[in-house]
Amino acid sequence: MASGNKMFDLTGKVALVTGGASGLGLGIAKAFVQNGAKVLVGSRTIDKVEGAVKELQALGGDESAGGVALDVTNDASAERAVRKAIDLYGRLDILVNSAGVMLRKPTFELKGEDFNRVYDTHVTGSLRCAQAAGHIFREQHSGCIINLASISTFVDLIEVAAYAAAKNAILGLTRSLANEWAKHGIRTNAIAPGFIPTDLNRKMIENTDRGRRILEHTPMGRFGKAEEIAGGAVFLASPAAGFINGHTLVIDGGYLASGIGDSFAPWATPEK
Ligand SMILES: NC(=O)c1ccc[n+]([C@@H]2O[C@H](COP(=O)([O-])OP(=O)(O)OC[C@H]3O[C@@H](n4cnc5c(N)ncnc54)[C@H](OP(=O)(O)O)[C@@H]3O)[C@@H](O)[C@H]2O)c1
Repeated sequence: MASGNKMFDLTGKVALVTGGASGLGLGIAKAFVQNGAKVLVGSRTIDKVEGAVKELQALGGDESAGGVALDVTNDASAERAVRKAIDLYGRLDILVNSAGVMLRKPTFELKGEDFNRVYDTHVTGSLRCAQAAGHIFREQHSGCIINLASISTFVDLIEVAAYAAAKNAILGLTRSLANEWAKHGIRTNAIAPGFIPTDLNRKMIENTDRGRRILEHTPMGRFGKAEEIAGGAVFLASPAAGFINGHTLVIDGGYLASGIGDSFAPWATPEK
């Protein structure tokens, strides 16, 4: 259903959301459908993809969503996903790179091959999909890419060195594409979510000391929700963000803003 506010309306737009069968990707896909877009979601696990498509179609009707088996670590797979969007909907306007994996390991034990797998999924995977979609965007002279950065793009998190390195590189990739492809009518931005419990991190942050510390350092005193990240994605994809390019939108309940400031203090605990 299209929003009443045309500035945020995605009616007529087609989006490919990688990693769109769960977590933040699924949240973004739902918000896109609710704001009028048609969405193709892709990931490696086809059952999960089919389940996500049903959820999306329940929101927007049969035409609103499709699924594709996608492995972003494979060039041909990325190209096939983009082709499927064109075959199904005749165009592609938005790419959200939300496919991702987490690896927690003390850095002394981190093997090069594991580092490369994480990096390949997040960074080279985003590049592959951006290139595949970028060819279409260049022909249309219009397109929007949204990459998923992270808090670890900006501050250190312990024992996730491969993930942090990848998320730092996402910032560089986002700025490079924003700079180089704007002349083709392509805007590239990133979202840096704070901590949202999903399959990626639930074991690390739900009811753990690490999770409790994160909440103490979050002025809003809670984890985020997928729909709160999705709002940022709708904004960045919409006409309202027509002059926003190369930006990383932090959505974190104030975690970064708090730095080492007063918000950690007991007297700053949010009122219930
Ligand atoms: N949740 C957070 O707090 C948070 C914070 C900052 C940034 N992020 C970022 O947000 C993005 C989404 O994460 P999430 O929290 O929504 O986690 P999630 O629920 O685990 O979603 C990630 C998705 O990526 C897919 N995926 C993994 N490897 C893939 C590959 N090679 N090809 C295609 N799809 C692949 C997974 O599905 P399959 O296994 O079926 O392929 C999964 O559905 C990630 O980039 C993550 O780093 C998350």
